Amino acid sequence: MITARSDTLPAQAGGSHGSAAGFLSGNALELHAVSRHFGSLRAIDDVSFTVRAGERYGVLGSNGAGKTTLFNAITGDFPPTAGRVQLFGEDVTTLPAHERVRRGLRRTYQTSLLFRELSVRDNIFLAVRGVAAGRLSLRRPAAGAPSREATEALIAQGRLQALADTPVAALSHGQQRQLEITMALAGSPRLILFDEPAAGLSPAERRELMALLTGLPRHIGFVIIEHDLDIALSVVDRVTVMHNGRVLVHGTPEEIQRNDDVHAIYMGEGRHAHH
Ligand SMILES: Nc1ncnc2c1ncn2[C@@H]1O[C@H](COP(=O)(O)OP(=O)(O)OP(=O)(O)O)[C@@H](O)[C@H]1O
Ligand SMILES: [Mg+2]
Repeated sequence: MITARSDTLPAQAGGSHGSAAGFLSGNALELHAVSRHFGSLRAIDDVSFTVRAGERYGVLGSNGAGKTTLFNAITGDFPPTAGRVQLFGEDVTTLPAHERVRRGLRRTYQTSLLFRELSVRDNIFLAVRGVAAGRLSLRRPAAGAPSREATEALIAQGRLQALADTPVAALSHGQQRQLEITMALAGSPRLILFDEPAAGLSPAERRELMALLTGLPRHIGFVIIEHDLDIALSVVDRVTVMHNGRVLVHGTPEEIQRNDDVHAIYMGEGRHAHH
């Protein structure tokens, strides 16, 4: 249950989590035959799977497999051209992205969207204000203490105290990823989509990032796109492997580990790198 890991990080200010049981029952995400076509290109085609509340889920696949396009369909950045997206039991297929944020969905991007000239603290403050801003709720919150308190709580949760006044431009690549993940925690998320957070990191930075992910409170489910098979399989409960826009296989890390088709795709990656 929720107590298993949530005590490893301080509770976040600025939102009640309600009862643990309520958050951990049911499905966080259901994809029903989701497709996204760009002209004649079937970037994703007929993808279906379910992520349970609090579950940690991996999406694997070589370059161009459709992983980021799938995230865009889930968040509403590029809605699906066919199929249905269900978030916490509610059909959100036609809802705009900010309505999905309001329901507890967050994401990080493959390319950093941090404000490089601003400090760690100011970037986190903007994330806090972003999810609480007028466009995301009917009532525009005052700019005062609650946002500041939530910002300081997030700095502590992300273990970024020592870097709070440092401009992003002066952070290492790993520290920037740590900051992006911390920003995704603003405003009581229930499901976070991480798009290749470990890309470009050193082996030591990767280990720290994975520790940060596995240390997240258990009521927060996540879906992680990760290129490295070993890393992905070490942090998730279940996996979907995509290839050329379609589902190749679903399974537990153990099942994926011994699947010959998966290994064939990863071995043949060089030839599949460009479409
Ligand atoms: N906005 C777009 N317009 C046209 N084609 C697109 C668009 N976005 C993605 N595609 C195409 O859809 C396919 C899937 O791309 P996507 O970025 O989802 O792959 P990916 O699995 O995330 O790859 P990578 O591992 O390189 O990040 C590719 O052929 C890509 O060129
Ligand atoms: Mg991608």
